[in-house]
Amino acid sequence: MQLPFDGAISRFYQETAPDDIRQAIKDSSKGDILNPLYHYRERMDRKEYEDHLYALQIEMVKLQNWAKASGTRIAIVFEGRDAAGKGGTIKRFRENLNPRGARVIALSKPTDRERSQWYFQRYIDHLPAGGEIVFFDRSWYNRGVVEHVFDFCTDEQREQFFQQVCPFESMLVSEGIHLIKIWLNVGRAEQLRRFLARESDPLKQWKLSSIDVKGLAKWDEYTAAISETIKRSHTDDAPWTIIRSDGKRRARLAAIQSVLSRIPYEKKNEKAIGDIDAHVAGGPVIWD
Ligand code: ADP
Ligand code: AMP
Ligand code: MLT
Repeated sequence: MQLPFDGAISRFYQETAPDDIRQAIKDSSKGDILNPLYHYRERMDRKEYEDHLYALQIEMVKLQNWAKASGTRIAIVFEGRDAAGKGGTIKRFRENLNPRGARVIALSKPTDRERSQWYFQRYIDHLPAGGEIVFFDRSWYNRGVVEHVFDFCTDEQREQFFQQVCPFESMLVSEGIHLIKIWLNVGRAEQLRRFLARESDPLKQWKLSSIDVKGLAKWDEYTAAISETIKRSHTDDAPWTIIRSDGKRRARLAAIQSVLSRIPYEKKNEKAIGDIDAHVAGGPVIWD
């Protein structure tokens, strides 16, 4: 089988990856958690996960009904490294929602015309109207991280972004939009394991891009850019929720719980939502 990018991911794994990362992947079996800093050693039990997810999805349906009835606008921003689990998490949020009124926005790189506009402008077009929930799979935070790491923007443009991002978000919040920002944090070995799976699985290959391949060697640049971005954009109006996503199941539950607990929809069942696992979700600390 012809591998995407001529097998560049496998080659990186075999030839270039740090020894501890390669070793961790070699020694792993399905279902292990690879990150030594992660609290749990194994993935969450499937039944426990599915039962809780079911209860949370019922709450999401109530949330959407309430948003429609009250004309509430909700914007949820998902950030995180490549393969952090943004797409899979958003999928679980939306699984049982009416897709009309629960949109995913995953913009591609800006066109020349968009490049000539105010940086935030193309995102504004996609903000929610009354009754809508918009899931941003990546967002204006590209300028803090990927655009910086790959020199797609200048240092001045990035500084300008940081000057504007907090006032921009405060404006959305004071306008009445519920803005929730989630940063999925995946460790290096788990990221590489997911890339390897994407390389060999014909149904996952579409998720790989040349940015992912080139980004393999830029782990530390990413870490620095992410850390700075989170610090400079964590505000009272629009705080970050950081979710450790080495275990996809716990991460998905924590993400949905975080959203449900921040929004005052009707007939909320606190018991169904449950406590957010503090080993998985929390405040703005960067964590490899
Ligand atoms: P994704 O992670 O969404 O699958 P990629 O890994 O290919 O997509 O790219 C990561 C992000 O970088 C995307 O949001 C993409 O729009 C952005 N990006 C890629 N190339 C450029 C570019 N030349 N200028 C600005 N942003 C870019
Ligand atoms: P996805 O492709 O994101 O929809 O995930 C597919 C499957 O990956 C899930 O159904 C899980 O069983 C499995 N999986 C792989 N790694 C993990 C992990 N660390 N934690 C939980 N589930 C995982
Ligand atoms: C995902 O796993 O869905 C990622 O976070 C998206 C990506 O690979 O860029």
